[in-house]
Amino acid sequence: MKITSSAKKLSDITEDVLVVPVFEGETPREGALAALDQLTGGAVTRVFDSGELDGKRDRWVMVRDAGRRLLLYGGGAADGLDTLRVQRLAGAAIRTLTDRGARSVAFLLSGKVDDAVCAQSIVEGAMMGQMSCGLHRSNDKPKSEVEELVLVGERAVGPAVDRAIEAGSTMAEATNFARRLGFEPGNLMTPTELARKAQEMAEREGLGCEVLGEDEMKRLGMGALLAVSRGSQEPAQLIVISYEPDGGAPDAGAPGPELIALVGKGITFDSGGISIKPADKMEDMKYDMGGGAAVIGAMQSLARLKPKARVIGLIPASENLPSGRAVKPGDVVRSLSGKTIEVVNTDAEGRLVLCDAITYAISRGAQVVVDAATLTGACVVALGEVRAAAMGTDQRLIDELISAGEKCGERVWQLPFDDEYGEMICSEIADIKNVGNRTAGSITGGWFLKHFVGDLPWAHLDIAGTAWTEHEKPYMARGATGFGVRLMANFVLNRAASK
Ligand code: BES
Ligand code: ZN
Ligand code: ZN
Repeated sequence: MKITSSAKKLSDITEDVLVVPVFEGETPREGALAALDQLTGGAVTRVFDSGELDGKRDRWVMVRDAGRRLLLYGGGAADGLDTLRVQRLAGAAIRTLTDRGARSVAFLLSGKVDDAVCAQSIVEGAMMGQMSCGLHRSNDKPKSEVEELVLVGERAVGPAVDRAIEAGSTMAEATNFARRLGFEPGNLMTPTELARKAQEMAEREGLGCEVLGEDEMKRLGMGALLAVSRGSQEPAQLIVISYEPDGGAPDAGAPGPELIALVGKGITFDSGGISIKPADKMEDMKYDMGGGAAVIGAMQSLARLKPKARVIGLIPASENLPSGRAVKPGDVVRSLSGKTIEVVNTDAEGRLVLCDAITYAISRGAQVVVDAATLTGACVVALGEVRAAAMGTDQRLIDELISAGEKCGERVWQLPFDDEYGEMICSEIADIKNVGNRTAGSITGGWFLKHFVGDLPWAHLDIAGTAWTEHEKPYMARGATGFGVRLMANFVLNRAASK
């Protein structure tokens, strides 16, 4: 989608369709609606009079007037309009226009939110809205799609809006990239293929990328990660992507930005292993690499937006399958950190691959660790698809993630992290076990990881509910959401800007 901005008058708009957001309580007697009413000889008034349009969210009417088409799209209450609502409005409007012969679209900035912020939100929403989930359908090409988007507003031109469009497309492209990885089925998106995709991206964007195979993992002693891949014919891969600011890494010992590690769970299919899952909805477990995909996407955005930061992205990728060689309930494995783990439930595999990746990140010099993982079903029960869970050892870091999330629309909610939760994963036979009892499952999952971060500031994001949407939304296809790409990228950008 080609995206530009323009301050042209409404009467000069020549695109196939002009999208006009309409908010509750607005009438064709004032503002842009009045101007459009005049241009269309009262057509807008007639729509309002008919009662078809009232500004309520996702109610819309297409008005035709002498070759011009107007999509009047309901945006809900004007009060409390934020980036997330603008993103969704744009996404929904673009989805409405698919297959309607609208190749070029002008989008009127609402004027209710800062123009640059609004522009970025529209770009993100529109690009994410346009993506379809039919990756492998032979005839899924829409008859028409929006190819050109022009943001129109009185003050819509200038460097701030240009930068916002650039940032918005970068974020949306990275998010859609992560979504495509999430949509891919397990037979096609194996750990090896995920590593290939990451390498391809890194090469294209000028990032460093290494992939550790199982021999290297064995040599290093990653017994926890290797325990998960034992049951599968597909070898595990530890993907390591690195971003250095202009000028490269500082010399050893020289001052420079701290090294931030982003660690993402990359289970390309989670059957549960010997502790096998029920068949119902097991097919969805192809998106159990959503955290890893989010890290890959975030690294792509950072490569393009170039913050003064040093970031290492790690994705421990594996399948989790049962077989005669698979890790069994009761097995004890030794992690890279030296801590021993009793594997009580082979379905709690995410923490096993993550703990070795975290230890490895620290051995590579990480000073701050953020991980993102579709870690627990309990998180889906607690927070649904709306917010990810956050927990960790450093309140400032968690606050930064919360605030980045509110601004970019990928919202998180902090869970408590008292010591008593940690006691639930004490093992009689090993240093810790990989599950607690049935209660507080998301927090005990977090506590497991805490054992591997030492004294470092660390935050854990459980994205089990937010990485996938069960139903199609007006603004987005059903399936992988790419949640975490924008959250982690914005977190790094903000942190770098505040130093
Ligand atoms: N990948 C799952 C968590 C999950 C469930 C993600 C539903 C998305 C939707 C994870 O590996 C898992 O199975 N966790 C177990 C942990 C339990 C055994 C402590 C769970 O949540 O049941
Ligand atoms: Zn599992
Ligand atoms: Zn899993």
